[in-house]
Amino acid sequence: MLFDTHAHFDDEQFDKDRDEVLKSLKNYGVTNITNIGSSMQTSRSSAELADKYDFVYASVGVHPSETGGLTESDIEEIKALAQKPKVRAIGEIGLDYHYPDDVPPEIQKKWFIRQLELAQEINMPVVIHDRDSKGECLEILKEKKISNGVVHCFSGSAETAKEILRLGMMISFTGVLTFKNARRAVQACEVIPLDRLMIETDCPYMAPEPHRGERNFSGYVEFVARKMAEIKGVSYEEICEITTRNAKRFYGVK
Ligand code: NI
Repeated sequence: MLFDTHAHFDDEQFDKDRDEVLKSLKNYGVTNITNIGSSMQTSRSSAELADKYDFVYASVGVHPSETGGLTESDIEEIKALAQKPKVRAIGEIGLDYHYPDDVPPEIQKKWFIRQLELAQEINMPVVIHDRDSKGECLEILKEKKISNGVVHCFSGSAETAKEILRLGMMISFTGVLTFKNARRAVQACEVIPLDRLMIETDCPYMAPEPHRGERNFSGYVEFVARKMAEIKGVSYEEICEITTRNAKRFYGVK
């Protein structure tokens, strides 16, 4: 019924009760999740989680803030992990200029482009993280002619959403959509066709209202779906059905 397309159950916040939480998800109507790698270590653990749980799929890749010491042999390992049957995407990858003392933009861009090229080479979708890149992330996606991908945790404008749609990509929303100050994200969601939308938690972060500030988990993806249904003027059941169909198509899940 619900597909959480972006979760981080490898996070240490789940160390005490990971198995319990994952096994509880069916009680919340969550039928599938994709666990997303963001470093070499979490890419490995994402692939392991997908091995262990039949309803879990994985994405492997290195988040811009983790690209500092990255090497070409790491890219080879990502490529090898991507061959595993339940690894379905490359990501999360992108640009993050939010913290001034983070990895320098030139390094971030180099490894972002390298991982986009890898995804193209092995014909896999990409999961994109774009924070405060001032349009540079979108420029690179355009230059590299990326169409098979999703921009995750979207909080940009309707205009930016339209540019992403023109590339052919999907757009995914987290609990940010439920926040009181989320006017811009809501306006963007309004203009996105139903067949381009996905839902996610980005757990353990980004818990939706009325759980904002708590540890997030896939069971709360329902609140993102409910808000999206309200914005799109369709029933909650329809949003569940459509976003699950979109996610299955995107991640190649039967
Ligand atoms: Ni994430």
